[in-house]
Amino acid sequence: MKELFFIAILFVFHTQSSLSQFEPNYEESKIPNFDLPDPLTTFDGKKISRKGQWKRTRRPELYAFFEENVYGKIPAEFNDFSAKVLEQGDNAINGKAKRRQVELSFEKNGRTLQFTMLIYLPKNVKKAPIFLGYNFLGNHTIAEDENIIISKAWARNSDKYGISGNKFTSATRGIRTNRWAVEKILDAGFGLATIYYGEVDPDKDDFSDGIHPFLYNQGQQKPDDNEWGSIAAWAWGYSRAMDYFEKSKEINSSKVVVFGHSRLGKTALWAGATDERFAAVISNDSGCGGAALSKRKVGETVGRINDIFPYWFCTNFKAYNNNEEALPVDQHELLALIAPRPLYVASAKEDQWADPKGEFLSAYHASEVYGLFKKEGIPTDQMPMVNQPIQNTLAYHIRTGIHDVTDFDWEQYIKWAKQQL
Ligand code: GCU
Repeated sequence: MKELFFIAILFVFHTQSSLSQFEPNYEESKIPNFDLPDPLTTFDGKKISRKGQWKRTRRPELYAFFEENVYGKIPAEFNDFSAKVLEQGDNAINGKAKRRQVELSFEKNGRTLQFTMLIYLPKNVKKAPIFLGYNFLGNHTIAEDENIIISKAWARNSDKYGISGNKFTSATRGIRTNRWAVEKILDAGFGLATIYYGEVDPDKDDFSDGIHPFLYNQGQQKPDDNEWGSIAAWAWGYSRAMDYFEKSKEINSSKVVVFGHSRLGKTALWAGATDERFAAVISNDSGCGGAALSKRKVGETVGRINDIFPYWFCTNFKAYNNNEEALPVDQHELLALIAPRPLYVASAKEDQWADPKGEFLSAYHASEVYGLFKKEGIPTDQMPMVNQPIQNTLAYHIRTGIHDVTDFDWEQYIKWAKQQL
């Protein structure tokens, strides 16, 4: 008993000390000097000047670094699932859309994982291009649509949001419609597919649930140091949605735009890097471990993110806690892994925690790889004015307002995706 008490005190002390010790820097003048690695120079110093060299040499070595040291490897292929249409309707969203609710089921060694994808497709398009993005609070929160199935996983987690018990679950229908411009997406001829991310891997420091345990060796309790954290697990889920699109007669799988906000923006970037079937990628306010340069150490840092969310990245990433200068890569090279496919990086003015300037510079420095493919990136290292997007193959905007997804964001994404795809 005494021991337990002691451990509890230690835990509280540790959490408080790590919370109180961290002072984010927001001042440009206090950024340490750093060398940004050149995406077009290999780790052993060779210059890359041709597409073929990028594809054969530089991209694979960068990819391997991020996989081994940042997001973590998936230990084995695990792609087989059965898909079941749980519900469908042909008159959703003010008569504009077809609705499909599809459950993907994965089984192994007596374990089952299921997640449900909610899909809206524009009625007047035969094979629709589609935006794919996870939601934070359950499929039923993204639209005013009584037919959306409330996921079991969400109901189980609902306490976390102060809405305990299934009884109140329906009260949360439509509470996140502000982040999903469903009608605008449909009017532009795009579909939208979304999944509650907690069904693929619950967002907590626990590797006994979600997809990870399916690939453990006998006796293994958590991923090895170079193996996948939660971000890589969520990215894996995006790829399984893509597998489903490839089989669907109603979806144009060559025009899938993978999207994510914040931690799910980090996820969308990693999904775009790992799975080249995604035609385009959108990172909304993804910040540290997403689009923002780590070496600037503005706002959230590598040490801080690994401290508070120790399960998002692989354990090897912790070697760079308060040691960003030792990183032989930076996040502009994650962006470059998506080249030459269209990529949109977006920031919000008041989201300093995510370091908007670091997100911008990252896009700027990834641009030389786009240039290698004769695709236009960000032409200048001067940040654009707020609400004045730069929309090339590599696009960027900073909008007014807080860490969020707004109609302004969606209007830009839709316009750009129409041009690019
Ligand atoms: C926290 C975290 C960020 C993350 C964000 C989110 O603020 O520090 O890294 O992007 O949560 O996912 O909303």
